[in-house]
Amino acid sequence: MKLEIKTPAKINLGLKILGKRDDGYHELETLFQMVDFYDHLEIEIIPSGIQLECDVPGIPADSTNLVWRAAEALREGRTGLPGAVLRLKKKIPSGAGLGGGSGNAAGALLGLNKLWDLRLTRPQLQKIAEKLGSDVPFFLESPCALGQGRGERLASLQSAEKFDVLLVSPHFPISTAEVYGRLKWGLTKGENDISILRKFLSKSDVPGLANCLFNDLEPVVIEGYPQIQDIKEELNRSGACGALLSGSGSTVFGVYSDSEKAEKALANFPKGNWDLKLCKTLKSLSEFLPDEILSYTD
Ligand code: C5P
Repeated sequence: MKLEIKTPAKINLGLKILGKRDDGYHELETLFQMVDFYDHLEIEIIPSGIQLECDVPGIPADSTNLVWRAAEALREGRTGLPGAVLRLKKKIPSGAGLGGGSGNAAGALLGLNKLWDLRLTRPQLQKIAEKLGSDVPFFLESPCALGQGRGERLASLQSAEKFDVLLVSPHFPISTAEVYGRLKWGLTKGENDISILRKFLSKSDVPGLANCLFNDLEPVVIEGYPQIQDIKEELNRSGACGALLSGSGSTVFGVYSDSEKAEKALANFPKGNWDLKLCKTLKSLSEFLPDEILSYTD
């Protein structure tokens, strides 16, 4: 028995830090949006044990990988289950603020739930997901969602009409823990507001949305990696109606009001120490999750 799952990337259209918690995490409010840029995960049932194969050198193919941990978390307390081999084909860069590893883990949860016939509901999977990482539950939720708490408390939002996003991923990863560790309260602006973003999103007003993108982590990241500011300026020059760091970086994305402008921006974007990916926002999970997976958890 075998399944192939596409696991998408995300961007954060807004990210507001509300405070530091006693458990060391930060209380936040973020607007998550999935985009049609995918890793591929193939899962095959084998008689016993967990095996992980990955086509990218440098990605750990062992118990430190979120996909492996997702499989182990599902097996915990259950006896008599067969094993699984998980084959990961990565396109989404790591340490890029695109949630690649988190999306992979969510894909593993969905796929193994079906292949092992565990019959866990989506809320049950989400409980497991939040132990794996703050961003993992989002990838089980909906293409556009408001994240609160650590980012794991979610409310699905109606997706806007699709719009074009150019991802510029510098060839250096950024550690999320390091960025949060360097966060200075003086640098976070009080006026940033998720509700304004939501209003533009609900009207599919892309220029309006692009005009009020914000990320409280961005100033800290730019301080440590000035190239991020250069990329933002390059995206603004390319015709984007807004540009922002995604999550804790290192990817910067530009938002375009029409596909022609976005394609022109991609064609003319200067070559540099980065990868470019032009993608569109996702509107529905059914765009990438097969019916057999979607119907299984509903
Ligand atoms: O939850 P996750 O493992 O993705 O988080 C990685 C690190 O990012 C955490 O160890 C923590 O330092 C930081 N973090 C945080 N507040 C959040 C999310 C992450 O401080 N809401």
